Amino acid sequence: DEAELVTDFEAILGRRDRIEPRDWMPERYRRTLVRQIAQHAHSEIIGMQPEGAWITRAPSLRRKAILLAKVQDEAGHGLYLYSACETLGVSRQELTELLLSGRQKYSSIFNYPTLSYADVGTIGWLVDGAAICNQVPLCRTSYGPYGRAMIRICKEESFHQRQGYELLMTMQRGTDEQRAMVQESVDRFWWPSLMMFGPPDSQSPNTAQSMAWGIKRDTNDELRQKFVDMTVPQAEALGVTLPDPELAWNAERGHYDFGEPDWDELTAVISGDGPCNAERMAHRRRAHEDGAWVREAATAFAARTSEDGR
Ligand code: ACO
Repeated sequence: DEAELVTDFEAILGRRDRIEPRDWMPERYRRTLVRQIAQHAHSEIIGMQPEGAWITRAPSLRRKAILLAKVQDEAGHGLYLYSACETLGVSRQELTELLLSGRQKYSSIFNYPTLSYADVGTIGWLVDGAAICNQVPLCRTSYGPYGRAMIRICKEESFHQRQGYELLMTMQRGTDEQRAMVQESVDRFWWPSLMMFGPPDSQSPNTAQSMAWGIKRDTNDELRQKFVDMTVPQAEALGVTLPDPELAWNAERGHYDFGEPDWDELTAVISGDGPCNAERMAHRRRAHEDGAWVREAATAFAARTSEDGR
């Protein structure tokens, strides 16, 4: 009966073991996972746009090859995550419709423009760096297919982060103009990167329950702090200034203190009012419509081959 199922479910969580697709799970647990995994998948797919815009304008063949591979990796991440989400009984088509109708979200960070090639480096360093902080603990999330998808994604994200850092390091060794371009880019992406971790714990409606279910392993504020602690020494090595006058080592806490992000800006960007929300969604919708013939052809082919008994 239901009580027994709940006890088994909680025992699995208590052992920090995995819940698998065929296991019983509370409906709210399933819905929370669909929400988070779908949002994550959509972020990977929408996240191809800001950097993809620079593929035709890469400064060298080498940079172009790197960027192409990276953007393709993001598509792959989206596909693993959609597949993980499908194990919870929703189809990729439904998820795509939920994104296109604005009923599911994607990360705020991809609603900011990429204005120079330095942004490709900054996104690798800061945005993928933040993603790694958030995602490494998700390898231990309580839902099996999500955790396993995260393992491969994290390996690739680490590689992306290093390529971003290497790009910025190369520009830092270049001309004054290149160094100014790096600093300007870091100035624009620093605060939005901190916002990727979500609202402060005190204003996060989902954190407590998601932690209790082992979906999230750390709170938004814990991960934000970890990201700041990890990034400050990297900024020093790179020779850039992070645009926060309150940033300072706090020996007592053993962490860096930092200023408060503009939470009104995060709310605006999440609700559709960021600098590029309309553009990102229009582009995604157009790509979906342009791909209709491919989906139709694949469906027709699948129907024919199954009729043939092949
Ligand atoms: N961008 C867009 N929406 C956000 C963001 C953000 N940066 N932060 C929080 N939100 C949304 C939440 O989805 C939630 O809305 P919803 O209930 O309609 O889904 C609302 O704001 C309140 O936030 P929380 O209660 O803190 O929500 P949650 O517990 O889901 O935590 C977080 C948000 C940390 C983003 C979590 O969902 C998560 O870890 N997701 C997996 C990682 C991920 O999605 N990464 C994508 C970007 S990284 C990359 O792809 C390179």
